[in-house]
Amino acid sequence: MSETPASAAQPRPVELPDDEAHLWLLRLRESIPPPVEQRWRELLSPAEAAAERRFRVEAARRQHLAGRALARTTLSRYADVEPRSWEFRTGPQGKPEIAGPTGVPPLRFNLSHTRGLVACVVTLGLDAGVDVERPDRRLSDPLALARHGFAPAERAALERLAGRARGELFCDLWTLKEAYVKARGSGFLALPARKLAYEIAPGGRIHLSIEPEIGDRAEDWQVELLAPTAEHRLAVAIRRGQRPDLELVTYEVEPMESAAHLVHPEVLARTATPVTVTGGTSTFDPTGAR
Ligand SMILES: CC(C)(COP(=O)(O)OP(=O)(O)OC[C@H]1O[C@@H](n2cnc3c(N)ncnc32)[C@H](O)[C@@H]1OP(=O)(O)O)[C@@H](O)C(=O)NCCC(=O)NCCS
Repeated sequence: MSETPASAAQPRPVELPDDEAHLWLLRLRESIPPPVEQRWRELLSPAEAAAERRFRVEAARRQHLAGRALARTTLSRYADVEPRSWEFRTGPQGKPEIAGPTGVPPLRFNLSHTRGLVACVVTLGLDAGVDVERPDRRLSDPLALARHGFAPAERAALERLAGRARGELFCDLWTLKEAYVKARGSGFLALPARKLAYEIAPGGRIHLSIEPEIGDRAEDWQVELLAPTAEHRLAVAIRRGQRPDLELVTYEVEPMESAAHLVHPEVLARTATPVTVTGGTSTFDPTGAR
């Protein structure tokens, strides 16, 4: 990886063809250098800054801050808009969407964060959701947890497994269900997650089925399940309609050591570790320096 002094960082725009969706990953270390946090904070709107101050749990505060900074700087890759100039509104169940400025491409995005990882998916006008989770190896009783929100076929698949394999399948299914719910801009209280069922076939092929009560067509959805690090599962759900699957292009941003780094475009195919392509074609400064 090569580094660029902050002052020289001039992130080049990223093209988003309509047959691609982009996934941006940011690994969160236990501590963020105060200057980086300060740069991120300067990107926030007053409402976001107020929300950040309300967090009582330090890790949650840091994830929220990193997520909002990642979203703003990522969106600025696709339009000539300063990261701090994006305006957001929230849907009825809290999903952030772009509200301004006007005259930019019809970008949609969704964020997810957990310990150690922040993810942001970006599409051109398509509903999309992303979820990241850490498979909890100490999960004592996945079957009991699955009584709520899991479909009978999903619970049966869990029952056929034991121990760690059962815990990992639980996490995979949970992550997939969350990605769909988030793409819909819903919440689990508003959308009965047990009415959608995922099946993960040997070899990793994922099949989604949706009961009529949900009022949606499973064949309109592209879903991907990835393992971006050894500790994380990540799912993306995109309502692509009748078109072929989009190419999911993944970028990893490494902000912590200094102000600016090369972007590493990655292809993630549910591998245990990302395939990193070095010598990327653009530079990206996730701290917002332009
Ligand atoms: C948002 C929600 C859908 C997921 O939250 P989560 O998994 O705890 O958190 P994630 O890190 O994945 O996502 C949080 C981000 O999603 C975005 N978000 C908030 N509400 C959202 C919504 N309704 N739809 C889509 N995205 C939403 C926000 O950007 C938020 O981060 P921010 O507030 O820091 O900006 C949550 O409201 C929810 O309903 N969770 C239910 C969990 C559950 O019961 N799961 C059962 C599985 S069977």
